[in-house]
Amino acid sequence: MARTDSPVTFLRSEYKEPAFLIQTVDLDIALNPARTIVVNRMQMKRNDRAGQNQSLILHGEEQELVSVRVNGVIITDYVLTPESLTLKNLPDTFELSITSACVPEKNTSLMGLYVSNGNFFTQCEAEGFRKITYFLDRPDVMATYQVTLRALKAQFPVLLSNGNLIKEEELGNGWHSAVWQDPFPKPSYLFALVAGKLHAIERTIKSASGKSKLLQVWVEAKDLSKTEHAMDSLIASIRWDEQRFGLELDLDRFMIVAVGDFNMGAMENKGLNIFNTKFVLANPETATDVDYGNVESVVAHEYFHNWTGNRVTCKDWFQLSLKEGLTVFRDQEFSADQMGSESGKAVKRIEDVRLLRQVQFPEDAGPMAHPIRPDSYQEINNFYTVTVYEKGAEVVRMQQTLLGKEGFRKGMDLYFKRHDGQAVTCDDFTAAMADANNKDLTQFKYWYSQSGTPRVTVKESFNDGTYQIKLSQSCPSTPGQTKKEPFHIPLLYKLIHKGDGTLDGGHAQEKLFELTKASEVITVTGLADKPVLSINRNFSAPIILEFDQDEAELLTLVKKDDDAFNRWEAIQKLYIDSILSNTTLDTAVIDALRELLLDPLLDPAFKDLVFTLPAESYLYEQVAIIDPQAIHLSRRKIREQLATSLLAEWTTTYQNHQTPGSYNPDAANAGRRALKNLALHMLMSAQAPNAHKWAQEQYQSANNMTDRYGALATLVNFASPQAEICLNDFHQRFSDDALVIDKWFTLQATRQEDLTGQHPVMADVLTLRNHPDFNIKNPNRARSLIHAFCMSNPGAFHNPNGESYQFWAKQVIELNQINPQVAARLARGLDRWKQFAPVYQNHMKSALELISRQDHLSSDVAEVIQKALHS
Ligand code: TRP
Ligand code: ZN
Repeated sequence: MARTDSPVTFLRSEYKEPAFLIQTVDLDIALNPARTIVVNRMQMKRNDRAGQNQSLILHGEEQELVSVRVNGVIITDYVLTPESLTLKNLPDTFELSITSACVPEKNTSLMGLYVSNGNFFTQCEAEGFRKITYFLDRPDVMATYQVTLRALKAQFPVLLSNGNLIKEEELGNGWHSAVWQDPFPKPSYLFALVAGKLHAIERTIKSASGKSKLLQVWVEAKDLSKTEHAMDSLIASIRWDEQRFGLELDLDRFMIVAVGDFNMGAMENKGLNIFNTKFVLANPETATDVDYGNVESVVAHEYFHNWTGNRVTCKDWFQLSLKEGLTVFRDQEFSADQMGSESGKAVKRIEDVRLLRQVQFPEDAGPMAHPIRPDSYQEINNFYTVTVYEKGAEVVRMQQTLLGKEGFRKGMDLYFKRHDGQAVTCDDFTAAMADANNKDLTQFKYWYSQSGTPRVTVKESFNDGTYQIKLSQSCPSTPGQTKKEPFHIPLLYKLIHKGDGTLDGGHAQEKLFELTKASEVITVTGLADKPVLSINRNFSAPIILEFDQDEAELLTLVKKDDDAFNRWEAIQKLYIDSILSNTTLDTAVIDALRELLLDPLLDPAFKDLVFTLPAESYLYEQVAIIDPQAIHLSRRKIREQLATSLLAEWTTTYQNHQTPGSYNPDAANAGRRALKNLALHMLMSAQAPNAHKWAQEQYQSANNMTDRYGALATLVNFASPQAEICLNDFHQRFSDDALVIDKWFTLQATRQEDLTGQHPVMADVLTLRNHPDFNIKNPNRARSLIHAFCMSNPGAFHNPNGESYQFWAKQVIELNQINPQVAARLARGLDRWKQFAPVYQNHMKSALELISRQDHLSSDVAEVIQKALHS
């Protein structure tokens, strides 16, 4: 966060024990938007494990220091900088009391204490606590907290903090106070407070061991009717963690609070999770099926952090994936279990892999590539990445694949037995996994230290009944890592009979091969003919597989593979081949797809994914030099082919997948809606005679947001004459619902580019940028237009005239002043610029340079831009 002109690089290898420990913290906070006063009384003790006679260097930013007392006596011989407060000649144990002031209403970074819609909120991860008070703001300093909140009662009737409510008092002059105590020692990044006009829905449940627990979801009064799904998701998460991992809720009270201004998805503060409204509020009229799913998984994610993150936390921020990779893995497993069927689980797995490939693979191949446990950073906020989160989850998942579900559970049990209440490292996690299972994970740990996506090449041979699979692995060099050691790669595989028959018993089983050397051979004897290989089943390892299977073999997998992931994968390969060679799909492929579409036994959600083409960002990774317009056009061509060649089937699909009656967000109904809306899209694309009429009717008569938005998106994407009217209707209908207005912006920012050039998306975006509802200070709104256009509409954004890159640069520069984190996310938009064809590359470079020339770049934006330009 700190603005700095000469960037400081922090190194994992330079970890030092804190010079002091903070045992208890007593905070007294008088909340006032214009000037909040914080009195922070800490019981301090020298750390025996650190060197003697060290000074105490506290972190502190953007505060006005009022006074410092040691054992009650005011001292003045401290050294104060914009980032620290240093005290010397301290006793071994003492009470340190610091009074400081900050200005929450001026805080647009949304880190530390800030005001949103008149209420107070905090965000302390990673280094926000230092904007509230002077502290050892690092995750290995854990203390118990007591917090007294004071505020004007009329304006701030509700006062919340971590743990248990101890006392409430009237103070006179219209002020009141509340005292909260958190019994569990925690690092400062898990501190939170909330104050203002909020209302809660409540449920009381009994935990597995029979203890009563109060659950609350706090929102503004107008949103109370949108909290039920979050509450249900919380209860489902509590039950799942009890059953799957034997982990219970440890507090008597657990609160979720929604806020409209938030940098990320949500935050796991102990007992007081704070959420972006986007991941709490849902009702059928305003939230789509995807929103319902996201609420469920983010609620679960934050709840699961209570054990993986809070009870056992990180020793330093290089260990971030210890809690994030593990917790993403846990929320993925939870969401898969909520799907209710095996095919539903496969759908969830495919969605997770799509995200990994679309966003993490490019990151791992670009200038910001880093291991899931980074060795260095300039700005920690820049390392809340898809690599740390999603690849981190894959690395945890591989351990479960290697050890089995039961073995993994044993490892988790040992991890908590050893480390409950501690701040630990990724090495501690793998050690628990290894020790509980007697498995050597030494080589496996390269997944933590090496960046880049490994490639595994498969070559087959078949002679006289002997089938050989030759596997070789390599990993491209990444910034700071030119040479890589071989990874320990778990590959699930199975042999499939290429004709109508099946292979006999022993050969027909799924097996696990652990690839550990640079190259290895699997030999199978006694086969009548060459089998078809299904490998990396269920995406058992996050690798790029280089395997030239011909169309006939891929179609065998499409028809016969019992691994739903690989069935889907075979189709994706066929799509990629056609798109990259700018050809159309063969009749045999279309016929196979027709069969899938009409198969009554297949899950509609799976069919929806089958007909979803690989994302452009993933296609970019398949070529040496990116021509974004060529890829865009050729991808559109394949979609049109799917639309026109299956026109009759899309019509029946649309008619047969209606979901009459009241809205049900469960996986089965959501799947039907997804496929139906895809069918509508295909019908529009194929210019089917009824398409516009059906879309318009669906828009008008929908009883849920999925259908209304689906229809509207179709009208807008295909420039229907009705598009304008429906867009206006949508805006009016939902004008007081911020999250739906975000959708209204996003829909227009991500619409398909008009190929006639008459009505470019860029022009709409510039108009929308000046719309009275646009507000760049609100992260959701900024992202709904700017990030959506620059990062989720490649066909429109990558225009060879370069205008959109200039637009991008100007938005990064403007956001940099307001909110460095939101700016830095956007700044990642041109990471892969060196891969693009020269016309694009030149324009991208000048846009990057425009940003790099600015004075007062935040460390967040500076790191991203400097790495893009120079690594
Ligand atoms: N720990 C949060 C999570 O569960 C991430 C997070 C929320 C965050 N807000 C943040 C990280 C602000 C950095 C800054 O995933
Ligand atoms: Zn998390």
